[in-house]
Amino acid sequence: MSHLLTVSRAAHLIGATRADMQKLIASGALFSQDGMVTTTDLLKVFPDVQLEDSGAFERTTKIREEAFGRRIRERVLPNQEVLAQRLAAQSEELAEVRRHLAHYHDLIEALQERIEMMRAASPSEQLAALAEFLDAGLAGVLGSEEPADTLEVLDDVLRVMTAHVKVKPSGHEFFVEGNETVLEAALRAGLAPSYGCRNGNCGLCKARIVAGRVQQVNHTDYPLSASERAQGHTLLCSHTAITDLEIEMLEAKLPADIPEQEIVAKVKKITPLAPDILLLHLQTPRSSRLRFLAGQRVTLSVSGSTANFRGDYPIASCPCDDRNLLFHICNNPDDAFARRLFADALKVDESVSLFGPFGDFVLQKDVTNDIAFVVCDSGFAPAKSLIESAVAADVPVALQLIWAATRDNGHYLENQCRAWADALETFSFVTLRASDLPAAGAAAAQRLQAEAGFACREVYVAGPAEFVTAACTALTAAGLPAGQLHFDSF
Ligand code: FES
Repeated sequence: MSHLLTVSRAAHLIGATRADMQKLIASGALFSQDGMVTTTDLLKVFPDVQLEDSGAFERTTKIREEAFGRRIRERVLPNQEVLAQRLAAQSEELAEVRRHLAHYHDLIEALQERIEMMRAASPSEQLAALAEFLDAGLAGVLGSEEPADTLEVLDDVLRVMTAHVKVKPSGHEFFVEGNETVLEAALRAGLAPSYGCRNGNCGLCKARIVAGRVQQVNHTDYPLSASERAQGHTLLCSHTAITDLEIEMLEAKLPADIPEQEIVAKVKKITPLAPDILLLHLQTPRSSRLRFLAGQRVTLSVSGSTANFRGDYPIASCPCDDRNLLFHICNNPDDAFARRLFADALKVDESVSLFGPFGDFVLQKDVTNDIAFVVCDSGFAPAKSLIESAVAADVPVALQLIWAATRDNGHYLENQCRAWADALETFSFVTLRASDLPAAGAAAAQRLQAEAGFACREVYVAGPAEFVTAACTALTAAGLPAGQLHFDSF
């Protein structure tokens, strides 16, 4: 018998992205009604589906592991208590189905008896045909050896390990894996939920559980009032999902929704990306992480014996990992913080003050247009954050990167772009070389117009100021509407 699944759950089940599923639905290859697909239709498109054999699953997982710096597989199984709760919830569901089946069976038997009594009192051909029809139908159901629906079985297994969450009012969806908290899962899925301390103290992650059950997995000191509890409010940073959930949760839609924060982080690693670009990896304390939107910047500063060294930099990592923050710092004599870094005066474990985030070079809410990133040199940094965030959120649009460079080694993470292009059908990129920044801006704009055009496309331009000015001027002259152009220069 066929089983109805949401598009998100179907994608999760066969190991594809939601964008892949939506493409199949749009092309007519997979039938969907009201956001649901049947397991029968799904098996027609994916006849050999196996939980772990899907290439898409492996590829997407790899990308996500790299983007989040987390080892998802190690966390997939919930702890004993959560596992027991999920099994109990599933058993209740099964018991309910059995009870219903028993009632239907009793009803059919009573109907058979009633027909026999009526036939005894007044025989008729119609009653005989009806009795025969019921007998044959019941024998067919009881004697059926129809094999179990593979996808339904897999779905039941997945339900023990993961729970599906639907967010109101945005309609966003995500899965809670193992016994991670609902907040961790929302961040991993590229959402921007409201939160603060992540350790049960501030109450900013408070949300209302509309349907489903949660279980506390982390300690909390925040006092929810009796009426909040009665209305179903809970702290997402200290609870995991026992069953599928529907929740009312606050989400940041604009940069103004994210508060400015001041955090002291530690240098975790400094690695050369190119002779004149360093990768700075900062790690925040567990209880004081940076909440930001992809594409935003922060101010970094360190104190020397005689002065303070500071600079503003775009974050080059995904907000889904709010503890490990990456920056691509260029060797610039006018930049005091960069000078200190390149002079080897900043060491692992040293403290760096971080203030922010700021900037509105962020993805538009509920993206529907395809996205093009037109960047030069280290303008790749905010584009990387935006791309990783879009992949985490599984946005169902095409992502195109045009990366211009004005010097050798300017495409310092080309391998990363190649890995994205290999793994994601929705991502493509080209690299360009130019003699100077204005020429790079003009060439990149021309390439975008020639390759993809501007229809239904948001364009994000980032890099040195001269590049950004040249690219924006060329794009505007070529007809790109101002509302589709977003830029950031540094
Ligand atoms: S984030 Fe502070 S209580 Fe949850």
